[in-house]
Amino acid sequence: MSLDLLAQTSKSLWLPQGASTYSDEVDWLFYFIMGVVGFFTLLILVLMVWFAWRYRGKPGQPASSQTSHGTLLELTWTFIPLVLVIVIFVLGLKGFMDMSVIPANTYDIGVTAVKWSWSFTYPNGTVAEELHVPLGRPIRLIMGSQDVIHSFYVPVLRLKKDVVPGRYTQIWFQANTVNEDDGFDIFCAEYCGTNHSQMISKLYVHESSRFNRWLEEASNWEKHMSPLERGKDIYVKRGCMQCHTTDGSKLIGPTFKDLWTEIAHGGVVFKDGKKLSDYLGPEYSPEQYVRESITKPAEKLVAGYDNVMPSFAGQLKDNDLNAIIAYLKDISGVAPDTATASQPADSGPH
Ligand code: CUA
Repeated sequence: MSLDLLAQTSKSLWLPQGASTYSDEVDWLFYFIMGVVGFFTLLILVLMVWFAWRYRGKPGQPASSQTSHGTLLELTWTFIPLVLVIVIFVLGLKGFMDMSVIPANTYDIGVTAVKWSWSFTYPNGTVAEELHVPLGRPIRLIMGSQDVIHSFYVPVLRLKKDVVPGRYTQIWFQANTVNEDDGFDIFCAEYCGTNHSQMISKLYVHESSRFNRWLEEASNWEKHMSPLERGKDIYVKRGCMQCHTTDGSKLIGPTFKDLWTEIAHGGVVFKDGKKLSDYLGPEYSPEQYVRESITKPAEKLVAGYDNVMPSFAGQLKDNDLNAIIAYLKDISGVAPDTATASQPADSGPH
């Protein structure tokens, strides 16, 4: 990742390559301020050294007579910086307005941040874990977080905006450079917990027709997925994998490996000492427990784990929840069509 960024950086002098319509404007102002600051830093340093040398005290010579003030000099060093800060303010305001005022006819994409991944929802309902956009069309991102504050940051676009729980933030950009191969880096720029540095994704910019083809393929693929495939897809795209492994190792939450078997047997132990088998029955199936764990994670806390999982109520639809259950069963080696009905607490899959 750092190598990617380095490669993109080396294409220009200091800043990474620019790939949005407003990136040149941002860069220009940056270099302008840099130039002004550099020029005056050097000038003042050189003058300081020279003055110290020129007016140094010498033995047997009286110190130079003091000048109380010089009106012309003082006006000059007030007026020039004043003009400079006004120029910087006007250029900065123009750039800020260009970036904040959203043009008409944007193509709208939803951005969801969750510890620790990004997902992107297209107007047709397709969800992708990477951002694909058409070239040369203004894109509006409507961004929300499911847990804490994150920040959506794409260096090549010169775009960064906080993503805040409980509200939407929006930002727009128009990409002007095709990138269908490596993709541009997307980062989270707000420290959001243990795996903040892993909260990365890619931006792909396509020619308009190729973007349409990508979207069609992505949505067809989603439509024709089996529940199991859909479950795997959700596991990756909705960030389950950030906390739950499938290989038995413990991350933030319990591993999914053999989790279904344990649930179906009612073997899960809660913080209050009760067991899942105390609840399982005709009115409370293992599937219902999984559903509840996803939509109301705080309802029954499993011993040894903290209450950190965000609720996915309203985020995941019924068929999404079914898909996750199918995936859990698959990981535990249970055929997806078995044990779908409620079953007594003491019987597990055979
Ligand atoms: Cu999300 Cu840092």
